[in-house]
Amino acid sequence: MPVLTLKSLKKMILFKKTADLHRWLDQQKASGKAIGFVPTMGALHEGHISLINISKTTCPFTVCSIFVNPTQFNDPKDFQKYPITLEKDIILLEKAGTDVLFLPEVAEMYPDGTNNLEKYDLGRLETILEGKFRPGHFQGVCQVMRRLLQLVQPDDLFMGSKDYQQCMVVQRLIQLMSWPIHLHRCPIVREPDGLAMSSRNLRLSPDERQRATAIYRALKDLPNAQKILTDAQFKIDYIETADAETLEPSPPKKGAVALIAAFQGEIRLIDNMILA
Ligand code: PAJ
Repeated sequence: MPVLTLKSLKKMILFKKTADLHRWLDQQKASGKAIGFVPTMGALHEGHISLINISKTTCPFTVCSIFVNPTQFNDPKDFQKYPITLEKDIILLEKAGTDVLFLPEVAEMYPDGTNNLEKYDLGRLETILEGKFRPGHFQGVCQVMRRLLQLVQPDDLFMGSKDYQQCMVVQRLIQLMSWPIHLHRCPIVREPDGLAMSSRNLRLSPDERQRATAIYRALKDLPNAQKILTDAQFKIDYIETADAETLEPSPPKKGAVALIAAFQGEIRLIDNMILA
């Protein structure tokens, strides 16, 4: 694949070093204008771009990061196979009007290595749902988000409710750090057939991709969710309903959130829906 040169970027500025990003941020902050931030792991799709769009309607400056964070992958195979589509990502971000893309290397984010990193008190969030099935995952999310948020110091942070529990974990991190950051939980963007957009969808075979729509059907028909998923050859981690604000277990009632995690082949998909 041809390498995209910096010359072909029209307006978006790309930084790889924290010091360079820092300098740019200092200049913008001196002007008093709010910074919106969209952290990602790349392999971007319309779901990610919707966050950029929402940031752009809220803040004069939008910073996006692409960093496949090794510390949040509890399954090393998932990390090794995480899709990378950098050239396409850069084009999408620039088209969306992103002001800055931060693209650090692992050594830039973890200069002292990834052993003995700090641990965060996430309470019950760490032992339920994703926390239960992906031990260590949310600690890794907090480790990278702490670095990113400390560096960017955004006024507004835009994250997708596709990763419902992740939003709560990051909200908790913001509270633990007493940062004045407003977290916006943005709507889930879906494919026309209902499948929630996800970078991992790229790894589904055509048959798996077709069967994957069962997750959306299951969320809309909870009493039959288990059958719908197993009929579509999903291996279920959980089907749960919970209080939408606390994630405490709740019966399936209006305003509660239904959450599903399940494997289609080797690919683990998650999705959720607020019950109408
Ligand atoms: P990633 O999976 O790349 O997702 C980046 C952001 O895009 C997250 O806030 C996620 O919830 C949001 N997103 C993903 N799919 C979406 C969809 N279909 N609709 C709306 N938003 C969607 O989540 C991560 O990266 C990482 O854990 C990260 C927060 C960057 C920390 O490493």
